[in-house]
Parts: sequence; C-alpha cells; structure tokens
Amino acid sequence: MLIKVRLGDKAYGIRVKAGLLESPPIPRFLREGRHVLLTNRRVCKLAGQGLLGRLRNAGIRIEAVMMPDGERYKTLATVEKVADALLARGLTRKSSLLAMGGGVVGDVGGFVASTYMRGIRYIQVPTTLLAQVDSSVGGKTGVNLRGGKNMVGTFYQPSEVWTDPTVLGTLPAREYRAGLAEIVKAGIIGDPVLFRFMEGHVKEINARDPQALSVLIARACWVKAKIVMEDEFETAGIREKLNFGHTLAHALETGVGYGRLRHGEAVAIGMAFAMLLSRERAGCPRRDVDRVLALLKSLGLPASWWGYDADSLVRLMKKDKKSAGRDVAEVVCPGIGSVKVDRNVPEAAVRQLLKNPAVHAGFHQAGGGSSHVEH
Ligand SMILES: NC(=O)c1ccc[n+]([C@@H]2O[C@H](COP(=O)([O-])OP(=O)(O)OC[C@H]3O[C@@H](n4cnc5c(N)ncnc54)[C@H](O)[C@@H]3O)[C@@H](O)[C@H]2O)c1
Ligand SMILES: [Zn+2]
Repeated sequence: MLIKVRLGDKAYGIRVKAGLLESPPIPRFLREGRHVLLTNRRVCKLAGQGLLGRLRNAGIRIEAVMMPDGERYKTLATVEKVADALLARGLTRKSSLLAMGGGVVGDVGGFVASTYMRGIRYIQVPTTLLAQVDSSVGGKTGVNLRGGKNMVGTFYQPSEVWTDPTVLGTLPAREYRAGLAEIVKAGIIGDPVLFRFMEGHVKEINARDPQALSVLIARACWVKAKIVMEDEFETAGIREKLNFGHTLAHALETGVGYGRLRHGEAVAIGMAFAMLLSRERAGCPRRDVDRVLALLKSLGLPASWWGYDADSLVRLMKKDKKSAGRDVAEVVCPGIGSVKVDRNVPEAAVRQLLKNPAVHAGFHQAGGGSSHVEH
C-alpha cells in the first residue's frame, strides 16, 4: 500500500508492506554518493544488518551509524555526535540519511537530516508500531532539553517512508500494545471503517499478523496524513484532533503516573475518559462508548484511572496548551469517526467523572458515567 502525503511543494509516499525490507524499493537518489543508516545496536542486530546487506548488494554505498538506545539520548549532544559521524563519513548535500528504529531514532535522524549542511534527504524506516503510525507521519523532528520534551526541533518531511510490519514481531508486548492505542485513536477521530476492522480482527492483531497490521497501519497513517495536510505547521488548530485522549494522558504521564505508564497506555486511559465525557458533552451514543471500552480491553490496554489522584489530574489537565482560563479543553467525540474540540468543559465535570466510582468499578458499568456528571 502506498499512502501519498502532499504538503506544499513536497510530496512523498509512505509504503506499507509486509516483507518490504526484504526487497527495499531503492530510489534513484541512493544510487549516487554516500549515505548513512542511523540506528541503534538493538535494532541493527534485529533488522538493520539485513537491510544494510541488501542495500549494499544492490550497489548502494551506505554505512551504519549507531546512536545509544533510549529517550534519554534524544538530545542535542547526540545530534552533534551523529552530525560529526556524517561528516567523518564524507556525506555531502547530495547524501541521504536513513533513520531506522523507533520514534527516538526517527526524531533525532529527522532533526539531523533537516540541519546537516542545511538539509539532506532522509528516509524513515520506522520499526516500532508507534513510529509506524505516529512519529513517521507529519514531519515533526526534534530533541529534548532538560527543561522539556521536544523543545528543539523542525518541521521536515522525509523523502520516503518504508514501513514493514513484519519487524514488529520482536517488539516487547507492552511496546506493541502501546502502539495499538494510537491506531484505536485514528479510528475514533477519523476512520470508522478502521475501527470496525479492529473489532473484527482482534485475534489477528494480538497475534501481530502482518497482513492485518498492514491494513491498520496504512489506514492510521492516512488519518494522520489527512489532518497534517490540512494543518502542516500546527497553526490552524486542526492538528488538535490528534490530541484525542491526550489531555488526561499527558496529565498521567507528567504527573501521577510518571514512569509507570507507556505513552500509549496513558492514551488508552485518556480515550476511555474522553469517550465517557463525550456522552455528556457531545451526545455520544452509549453504544459507541461501550465499543471503545471493549476494544481497548480486548487489545490488552488499560481503560481505567483507578488509583490516580483526581485533584492532581485536574490541575495538570488545566495546564494543557489547549486550555485557557478556568475550564478544561478536551477533544470530544460525538460518535466513532469524528471529533471536535470542546474548550469549555467545566472543571467540576472533569473532577466528577474522574472520581466516579462506577467508572472505577470496571468497563461495563463505566458507560453509565454521564449521569454522575454535574454542571
Ligand atoms: N515526531 C512525531 O511526530 C512524534 C510522534 C509521536 C512520538 N514521537 C516520539 O517518539 C518517541 C517514542 O517512540 P517509540 O515508542 O518508538 O520509542 P523508542 O524509539 O524508544 O523505541 C522503543 C524501544 O524499542 C526498541 N525497538 C525498536 N524497534 C524494535 C523492534 N522492531 N523490535 C524490538 N525492539 C525494537 C528501541 O530500540 C527502543 O528500545 C518519543 O521520543 C516521542 O516524543 C514523535
Ligand atoms: Zn500520542
């Protein structure tokens, strides 16, 4: 499958195919000059060596550059080391950087590619589910500062994205499931067919079947790509839709759940919350709320915020960049397949829902939450 992303004068394709890295679709610009594959030792061993060998056999002059594994290396210090390594290997403005790995390698690789000699081509080769459906689409690159995540970065589109779902076989289970949460999100915000497909293929998805995953990934990329095409630089407010489930997720990640939850797990909890809130605020049918809760559960994702302190969560949610003043802003869902931003959710409504014991009791009572919400 090929998803075409058009942005201004830039257009590129996201190729999604099981087995793609066995026979990489070599573009002409790789045939000349020197190139680098940026990755880490873990990914290199699992899939990088193989790709490198195939590219070299096809006559491409390419060398591997390693960066350390982990979010804590998403820094300017790593950027400098990688750029030094490109220079040492004789990369020129005609060269390309292939970034192979999860979102960390993708974000660092994209940032280096956008600034090395004022910009060279890069190809994203995402190898985590999160990277395949989220960080490889949209052109955001960047690194963390001590004071905050992704505080230095650029908007820079890759020349191509090579996505092969077979590489996901080696991902740790939690990492895999966390990526699924962003696909559930894509279904809720813009693709009811994708959502239904997930409901009908739970077994295949949990078994990481590459064919089912190809459908999921391609459709989720398309949902994100359409939104990005409307709002490339995040100025029109449209990208806010991508934040569905993320207001509570960020509160959980930065505050009370720090270090305990993967981003995708926090998003799953945040989506369950947003769906329940949507009953009251957006007239979302009870059935749609139940479908979301049931799908999250069948994919092994959490959907309850039991155990986290409601007052701290509300405080953190009000700090969200969408919010202004006393109310909380939340992306709400009138029904699976569409969302809108509600900037005036009363703080009391959020607090009540967070404290609602019926929700804490479990999924199936959870849908009744709206009757407990006060205004
Ligand atoms: N640019 C964007 O638009 C965007 C969007 C979402 C997230 N992000 C960023 O992405 C990062 C998170 O990405 P992530 O979740 O991919 O984390 P990650 O890059 O740290 O990868 C998670 C772990 O999985 C390993 N790994 C990668 N591929 C593997 C494979 N096939 N088999 C086994 N192990 C594998 C990695 O080496 C790492 O240890 C964050 O820094 C976040 O800010 C960026
Ligand atoms: Zn996310």
